[in-house]
Amino acid sequence: MFVAGARPNFPKLKPVLDAFEARGCPTTFVHTGQHYDPALSEVFLDELGIRRPDRLLKVGSGKHGEQTARLMASFEPVVEELRPDVIVVAGDVNSTVACALVGAKLGCLIAHVEAGLRSRDWAMPEEVNRVVTDRLSDYLLAPSPDAVTNLEAEGYREDQIHLVGNVMIDTLKTNLDRAATRLPGLLQQFDLDKYGLVTLHRPSNVDDRERLASLIDALGTVSLNLPLLLPVHPRTKRTLAELGADLPPTLRLIEPQGYLDFIALQSGARLVMTDSGGIQEETTALGVPCLTLRESTERPITITEGTNELVGVEPSRIIESALRVLRDGVEPQCPALWDGKASERIADVIIEGGPARSRKRPTDL
Ligand code: UD1
Repeated sequence: MFVAGARPNFPKLKPVLDAFEARGCPTTFVHTGQHYDPALSEVFLDELGIRRPDRLLKVGSGKHGEQTARLMASFEPVVEELRPDVIVVAGDVNSTVACALVGAKLGCLIAHVEAGLRSRDWAMPEEVNRVVTDRLSDYLLAPSPDAVTNLEAEGYREDQIHLVGNVMIDTLKTNLDRAATRLPGLLQQFDLDKYGLVTLHRPSNVDDRERLASLIDALGTVSLNLPLLLPVHPRTKRTLAELGADLPPTLRLIEPQGYLDFIALQSGARLVMTDSGGIQEETTALGVPCLTLRESTERPITITEGTNELVGVEPSRIIESALRVLRDGVEPQCPALWDGKASERIADVIIEGGPARSRKRPTDL
């Protein structure tokens, strides 16, 4: 059973689902409905060619406790009805942890795609979700060696940890040619030649008006040197509306983009500035410079073996770093196993059977 709920889950689960189907393994796909706006959900299913969910739970938004509880209450009867052997969850969103917890208690094996990432910032809801989901999982599917090191340090058994590579890059490689054909049209639509791309949606950056205002101010300054496009996440839209900020015309707010258009825009950008996790990885794979507007990252490998730099949220540092990167560029490099075959390795681990398959489940005890 494959579970997806929020925007970043779709490109992570699609290639794994394909790899299971290609091996004749029966699958079910559950969409929790954590993200329900068509721009954050349907567009992704359509563009990535993900089949319609076998079950669509309409959990929607809410406070963390409320949303997580609704996720669990709606997911439990689905597991009881369909009795999957393995539940595959991905990433660090509330749907991930909620469904892993339900599945573990009902005796299913849990496979966590993107296990072992740690920002070490316990104030991030995603960090809590990462740590708890790993603890609930039988198969810890790590995207990079730093994730393996984190899991080992936390005491996980060697037979639980599998270094498989990065599934987001599987999807990126599959779709890159298709995405590239869209770039000329997008540049025409936005009347741009050279540009930078920005995303902001972390609660720490966008829920607090003062913080968001100071980031927008810094981005406005950068945009005087390089026009910037900022697709606005619904969460950010709310605070921006409250701020009523006066933006320079070089900082363009646009609607959230679909997968293919967003990949196209990343691949053509001179510079990407973001607080997203996945975009730090995609820019590394694309060889595009990325500045991460956060104090920590759970993806340090994109700094040591990629094109990412952690610049924090101080306006002067953001502006200075952006101008430096625009002047000097960065050396493209990409971590091992970000090769488009991570999903195949995941299917090998789970279908061909690792030691976790023979592990007693709570219901057998
Ligand atoms: C979630 C994930 C985050 C991921 C991000 C990608 C958690 C804790 N966070 O954050 O890790 O990087 O998705 O987008 O799971 N909203 C809509 N329409 C939607 C979804 C949300 O308008 O389809 C609005 C609602 O007002 C909601 C707010 O956005 O309250 C936040 O949504 P939520 O799912 O709680 O978290 P995200 O900020 O999207």
